[in-house]
Amino acid sequence: MIVKLSVMNEVNVNKRIVLGISGGIAAYKSCELVRLLKKAGHQVNVIMTQAATDFVSPTTFQALSGEPVCLDTYDASSGNGMAHINLSRQADVMLIAPASANTLAKIAHGTADNLLTTLVAARTCPLAVAPAMNVQMWNNPANQRNLDLLRRDQVTILGPVIGEQACGEVGSGRMLEASQLADLLTDVWTPSLLEGKRILITAGATFEAIDPVRGITNISSGQMGIALARACRAVGASVSFIYGQLQTEIPVGLAYREQASSGDAMYAAVHRLIKQQDVFISVAAVADYKVKNRSEQKLKKQDNQVVPMIELTENKDILASVARLPDAPFCVGFAAESEHVLEYARAKRQKKGVALMVANQVDQAMGKSTNQVILLDDEQEIALPQMSKDDTAAAIVKRLVQLLHTSV
Ligand code: CTP
Repeated sequence: MIVKLSVMNEVNVNKRIVLGISGGIAAYKSCELVRLLKKAGHQVNVIMTQAATDFVSPTTFQALSGEPVCLDTYDASSGNGMAHINLSRQADVMLIAPASANTLAKIAHGTADNLLTTLVAARTCPLAVAPAMNVQMWNNPANQRNLDLLRRDQVTILGPVIGEQACGEVGSGRMLEASQLADLLTDVWTPSLLEGKRILITAGATFEAIDPVRGITNISSGQMGIALARACRAVGASVSFIYGQLQTEIPVGLAYREQASSGDAMYAAVHRLIKQQDVFISVAAVADYKVKNRSEQKLKKQDNQVVPMIELTENKDILASVARLPDAPFCVGFAAESEHVLEYARAKRQKKGVALMVANQVDQAMGKSTNQVILLDDEQEIALPQMSKDDTAAAIVKRLVQLLHTSV
């Protein structure tokens, strides 16, 4: 029986975000961050330290956020003088980006000597920080001690990454990009329902070489696999990601990532990692066949108009091979069908022996940003509405959580 389920996406509901900006050149990235958070429908209230105003004008943040910007010069005598404190008390999350070494040190030690650090001390919501500093400052033992204190206080530390720095040095201390921060911030307010679970995901299209420059592939963009990686990461899972050809950037915050272009390479990578996994989600569009007579040299056009023949041989079925393992993880498969979606997906689920099968119609899914799927498991068949791949992924993870909890 198909249950029609209309899914309320709990991941992307609108939030009240207090964004603290401390002094650092990375403050320019926070302009884009405000824009992205606003575009996602969140309310953003910006608080700037005195030092931050040397890098970006408060007017810029005011225009981008559509809200007044709070500064150290804030006049506490207006109103009941509590408006700024209420800001952090009413927030769903507080993020400091960029977080300078100085601001991190103050927060780690409970110092509240400016508006930003006072709001941090007065908050009741979760706090995330995105450090940005020179590599020597980052590695400084005092800074590392402060970060340990912050971790112990449940502060989420986003980044930094290794890269080229404004001072010309290369090393750790570079703030994450705005899109990466906006992505990771959703994890802070998403309940960690799969904390400690290890999930292996395959994504994208495989590529079966014909010769060194040509090959057989398909139109999978990898978006669904990427959306699932983000959704699993958001609920606290440790995600390993094996990918073929992707048309989208891989998200940050994954435990492991490896490219495996061909079906054989993907099979080997999956079986190398599978023993440590609790869940296997096979989203990759793996070629059913590979080239038997692959040429080591580039094939040349024949003068005599002889058309070269490509001989194919079957690829191993990665998902079925994992599901057959004696200590198999919980397996999730995807059935890509162009007709008789439900009937074929039911048969595929039985044949491959997977606990949860996600059925989709290829012309509604592959290479597109939205998807419309049916979830098939032992208990139910749930038809989800057409929605973004992020929302579809959140709904799949929601069902996965339910099934994992009932299967233990
Ligand atoms: N799959 C796999 N290894 C393969 C082929 C498919 O792991 N060699 C996985 C896919 O990742 C997906 C599921 O099996 O989770 C179903 O893939 P799909 O392409 O829909 O089905 P096929 O098994 O290839 O069958 P067909 O092409 O006949 O529909």
